[in-house]
Amino acid sequence: MSITDSRHRPLVVGIGGTTREASSTERALAFALRGAEQAGARTRLFGGTFLHSLPHYAPETATLTDAQRELIEAVRAADAVIIATPGYHGGVSGLVKNALDTLEELRADTRPYLDGRAVGCIVTAYGWQATGSVLTSLRSIVHALRGWPTPFGAGINTLETRFDSAHQCSDEKVIDQLFAVGQQAAQFALAFKLASDTDKQRAASQPGAAGKIAAGAAGAARNEDRLSVAV
Ligand SMILES: Cc1cc2nc3c(=O)[nH]c(=O)nc-3n(C[C@H](O)[C@H](O)[C@H](O)COP(=O)(O)O)c2cc1C
Repeated sequence: MSITDSRHRPLVVGIGGTTREASSTERALAFALRGAEQAGARTRLFGGTFLHSLPHYAPETATLTDAQRELIEAVRAADAVIIATPGYHGGVSGLVKNALDTLEELRADTRPYLDGRAVGCIVTAYGWQATGSVLTSLRSIVHALRGWPTPFGAGINTLETRFDSAHQCSDEKVIDQLFAVGQQAAQFALAFKLASDTDKQRAASQPGAAGKIAAGAAGAARNEDRLSVAV
C-alpha cells in the first residue's frame, strides 16, 4: 500500500524535547518526522521551547492558554503522533508528561485521547538502563491514552550517539531506527484511514449496516470504559 492509494495525507504530530537548545531528544524527533514525511505524511513538531510554554496542567482550570489550545487542536486533527522524551530519574520527563496530561481535554471527543492513532515512541537517556525502562513506561502511558504504540520504538543512548545538529547524527543505525518509527506511524495512519473509509462506504451501500456498525462501536466503547477503569 502506498500513500498514492489515498487522497488523504496523514498528519503526524511530534511532541518532545527538552529545554536545552541542542536537545538530542528534539533532534531525534525531527529525524522520525522526516521518516514520516518520506512515507507521505504531513508533520508538525511541538518541541522543547513550546512544551516549556505550557502551564502545568490543572484539570479544574476552566480556561486554557493559547498554547494549550494549539496542542490540543493539533492532536485532535492528528492521524498519528510521535512522542520523544528523555529519561529523567528513571521516568518520562515532567515537561513531556505535562503535555500528555494536557490531552485530558480530549476525553469527551469521538476519538478520545489518542484513540485510533498510531503512536511512535522515542527515548533518549545517558545509558541503556533508563533507555529501556522509560520506553516501556512511555508505552504504558500511550496505552492509558488509548493509542496504538508502533511495533518499533527507538531507544537512544546519548552517551554513545551524538546529534550535532537537527540534520546530523553520529550513528547511521540510529537514523534508520528513527526513520522506522516515523514510517510505521505514517503507514498505520494511512491503513487505519483506508479501513475506516471502507467501513463507511460499506455502511452507505448496505441499508441497516450503519446501525450495526454504530452498535458495534458503542459496544466497543462500553468495553473500553470498563478497561479504562482498570488502566
Ligand atoms: C534531571 C535529569 C535527570 C536525568 N536522569 C537520568 C536517568 O535517570 N538515567 C539516564 O540514563 N539519564 C538521565 N539523564 C540524562 C538524560 O536522559 C540524557 O542526557 C538525555 O539524552 C537528555 O536529552 P536532551 O539532549 O534532549 O536534553 C537525566 C538528565 C537530567 C537533566
